Amino acid sequence: MRFEERMLPHEVKHIKVLRENAAECAVLLKKDGKFPLEKPGKLALYGNGARRTVKGGTGSGNVYSRCYSTCEEGLEYAGFEVTTKNWLDAYDSERDRYHGEFVEEIKRKAAELNVSPFVVGFGKIEPEYDYEFPLSAEGEACVYVLGRISGEGNDREIMPGDVLLTDTEVRDILALNGQFERFMLVLNVGGVIDLTPVKEVKNILYLSQLGAVTGDILADILLGKANPSGKLTTTWAAVEDYQKIGEFGSRDDTRYKEGIYVGYRYFDTAKANPLFPFGFGLSYSEFEWKIGKISVEKGKVNISVSVSNIANIAGKEVIQLYVSAPKGKIPKPYQGLAAFAKTKELQPGESQTILLAFDLRDTASYCEACEAWVLEQGDYIIRVGTSSRNTQIAASLKLDRTVETWKLKKRMGEPDFEDAVIEFSYDDNVAEIPKLEITAADFETKTCDYMVDRNVDEFVAELSNEEAAYLCLGAFLPNATGGIVGNSAFHVAGAAGETTNYLTEKLGDRYLVMADGPAGIRISRKYALTEKGVTPVIEKLPDGLDELLGDEMNAAVRKIYESIPPETIQEQYTTAIPIGTAIAQSWNTEFAKLCGDIVGTEMEIYGIHLWLAPALNIHRDIRCGRNFEYFSEDPFISGKMAAGITLGVQSHEHRGTTIKHFAANNQENNRYNSNSIVSRRAMREIYLKGFEIAIRESQPKAVMTSYNLLNGEHTSQCKDLVEEILRGEFGFQGLVMTDWVTTGVKFNPSSAHPAVYAHKIIKAGNDIVMAGGQPDFDDMMEALNNGTISRQEIDICATRVLRAINNI
Ligand code: BGC
Repeated sequence: MRFEERMLPHEVKHIKVLRENAAECAVLLKKDGKFPLEKPGKLALYGNGARRTVKGGTGSGNVYSRCYSTCEEGLEYAGFEVTTKNWLDAYDSERDRYHGEFVEEIKRKAAELNVSPFVVGFGKIEPEYDYEFPLSAEGEACVYVLGRISGEGNDREIMPGDVLLTDTEVRDILALNGQFERFMLVLNVGGVIDLTPVKEVKNILYLSQLGAVTGDILADILLGKANPSGKLTTTWAAVEDYQKIGEFGSRDDTRYKEGIYVGYRYFDTAKANPLFPFGFGLSYSEFEWKIGKISVEKGKVNISVSVSNIANIAGKEVIQLYVSAPKGKIPKPYQGLAAFAKTKELQPGESQTILLAFDLRDTASYCEACEAWVLEQGDYIIRVGTSSRNTQIAASLKLDRTVETWKLKKRMGEPDFEDAVIEFSYDDNVAEIPKLEITAADFETKTCDYMVDRNVDEFVAELSNEEAAYLCLGAFLPNATGGIVGNSAFHVAGAAGETTNYLTEKLGDRYLVMADGPAGIRISRKYALTEKGVTPVIEKLPDGLDELLGDEMNAAVRKIYESIPPETIQEQYTTAIPIGTAIAQSWNTEFAKLCGDIVGTEMEIYGIHLWLAPALNIHRDIRCGRNFEYFSEDPFISGKMAAGITLGVQSHEHRGTTIKHFAANNQENNRYNSNSIVSRRAMREIYLKGFEIAIRESQPKAVMTSYNLLNGEHTSQCKDLVEEILRGEFGFQGLVMTDWVTTGVKFNPSSAHPAVYAHKIIKAGNDIVMAGGQPDFDDMMEALNNGTISRQEIDICATRVLRAINNI
């Protein structure tokens, strides 16, 4: 990237850090040895993502960095001569024309429904179109950048231009692959697309969406200045090969009938073949690896693996460890990820011994019949390798008898179906492999004898009823009906929200400001300081919104802008970091920490206390519109990454993460009021596990509940989830908050499920209703007056909010 003169020192520094490291997130899916290039030269650059490169998705996860490098810019800065300007210009004008039609269609629909175009257009993704421009440019190499964007409020669709490639894309990619000796297909996408029609392409790089440095990293990789070392964290397959046992996307009730068979757990158990398996990724280098010493003590297993770089270019490798549990009474997935480690950058010929460590307890299955985590007796096969489909057996551990490792209670309701069972057999030859013995006596059975802290601080007990209620609500202006999603803070312009503004006499200058992520910090680029506080300053409505909200609104925004004295305008630029999935693809928790450190530093600079990230919902279905914000289809790597980022952020004093959205929030359709129906086993093994790992390893300062219902109850009002599981079982000690305007759902008459109420949220032990509004306050007071909620219940949450304000 060309550094702008006006960039602040932290922007320059953070972009440099990302430039040095973000190639770790890019996954090389295919290679024929014709890359990297020796030097920048004439380059034929095609594709919708070449100039309109996507740095991250849309919605609350969109970060307003000062600038970012598109692929075209990144390549030109690096010295390439792009020979396809005509094609790129032609694509641009055709795209603008189609875009005009797309917006007109939204307006037409809105008029038909008699609603604002914003209602119809929010989060709506414009699919790619078909066109035909000559592919006649010359070049020493050719790169085709295929882009896709998605975001909050809408799920993706299995249609050309979204999950599928358009006919135009397939035709052009295949033609260029044949035409050029050196051709690379680059995927600037946030989630899976079906690559079946172009799988013969010689070189495929899944660049992903890397924030500010997206285009620069592409240039570095093409020139071999950086070597991609990412691995997939979600299985890439042909759309028809994903499991179809479970439902997806219903407005009202979505049954997760596939149970635990999510992602590779389905593919590996059903022996279905993906295009690119979980954990897969190539490198310009080639590696050899050899399993070394294995030891086990009290259920803790250590395996050393030596890895050597046998190529003539430096690179990093990731070694993964999967465990296949014995087939006992509880149906099992074929295997589950239990450990992974990435090497340092190995120079040509260099070797390193890395350690893979795990505790067998963490591979236990959840037994619904006995409401306990169980290790069944038999042989645990340990597989080590470089993807879920490329492993060697390292050892087999024999457990002498079945043991319950943790006895729990029945929680979270009951689905109206039984989880699917997929029959399979292990056909391993274990004759030659090391066999180790372990005994059930090594494992104690934990029970539920935790104590949730429900103490009330004296300060809170002495507050008036109104004051105590205010503490449990985010800040809002008198009579405001509800905050604005993602923009309800008074102290930092464009931050998502903050704690109450009604107790300033008693709290003085103490409050917490919360700002969105996860791809960096989302605040306004510019603000003005007025007597009312800070006001975000925008010259025009953001792209997309400007067309939907109409000329009047645009003129009003412009008028406000012109009325602000320029000398009162301040800037607050943050750095766009790689999207969640890309960070996870690094398989490097140190890189995750580094990203957290960038965010933590900028939180200090701009006065943000709680970052509303990382987000670790599971990639249950490739269609979820927010998957790009989330890490993986696997809970183990999700939890590790969330912990890494949290440790980075929280290494900064008074800064914390808010891991979200807790839990089973895996679709966007009717996101405020859709009901995820999930078994207790799938909840514990798949959807809660990552949160549990993140909490145990990094104790984030906050957790955000999700919008959806779980088995008929809104997660924000679910005591089992918030008090018993989160605080009790997982030992979470921080603040729990709702997602934004969760209570607003009562204004939606078409919902099949009941509305959410502030007092029910507080009764469940969910401490603060965000963003907060007058109806929430009124609801709390009414419930208090008619005895539906007690003052003590309010005080317990108010105390936790107060402690967060004082201690974060
Ligand atoms: C999103 C959250 C976000 C919040 C505040 C919600 O709509 O679901 O992820 O943190 O808004 O902007």
